[in-house]
Amino acid sequence: MSEVIPIGSDHAGFQLKARLVEELRALGYEPLDLGTHSPESVDYPDLAHEVASRVEHQSARRGVLLCGSGLGMSYAANRHPGVRAAVAWAPEVARLARQHNDANILILPARFVSEEEGVDILRAWLQTEFAGGRHSRRVAKIEQEPR
Ligand code: RB5
Repeated sequence: MSEVIPIGSDHAGFQLKARLVEELRALGYEPLDLGTHSPESVDYPDLAHEVASRVEHQSARRGVLLCGSGLGMSYAANRHPGVRAAVAWAPEVARLARQHNDANILILPARFVSEEEGVDILRAWLQTEFAGGRHSRRVAKIEQEPR
C-alpha cells in the first residue's frame, strides 16, 4: 500500500501545491490534498493545523505544507507535539532537515522557489533518511519543556 502524505497550502502556495501533488503521485505516494482548492485568500494556520494534526496523531508519518514565505506555516505546525516542520528553500536544506532534524513536515516558501526547485526540494526531502546517532539526542531535547 502506498504511503499517504497529507499536503496543504494557502492561496500563495496553491499553484505549487498542485505541481507537488502530481509529483507525489508520479513517485508512487498517495497525496491527501487538504486544500486550499482555489486561489481565494485563506488563513494559513487552518491548513497548517489540518496537516500537522495528522502527523501529531500518527495517521500520517509525514506531511507537506506551503505558504508564501513558509514562516506562518512553520509557526503553526510546530506547535503540535512531535511535529518537526522545516522550511526548505533548497534541496540541501531539505536533506539536512531530514539527516540532522528528522523533519516530519516539509514546508516550501512558494513565493521564493520556482516549480522546478520545489520539485527538487520535495524529492530531496522524501529520499533522505534521518542520520540518528548524536542527532537523536538533540532531536529528543526539542520536546523538553523550555526552561
Ligand atoms: C499570505 O499573503 C502570506 O502571509 C502567507 O502565505 C505566508 O507567507 C505567511 O507566513
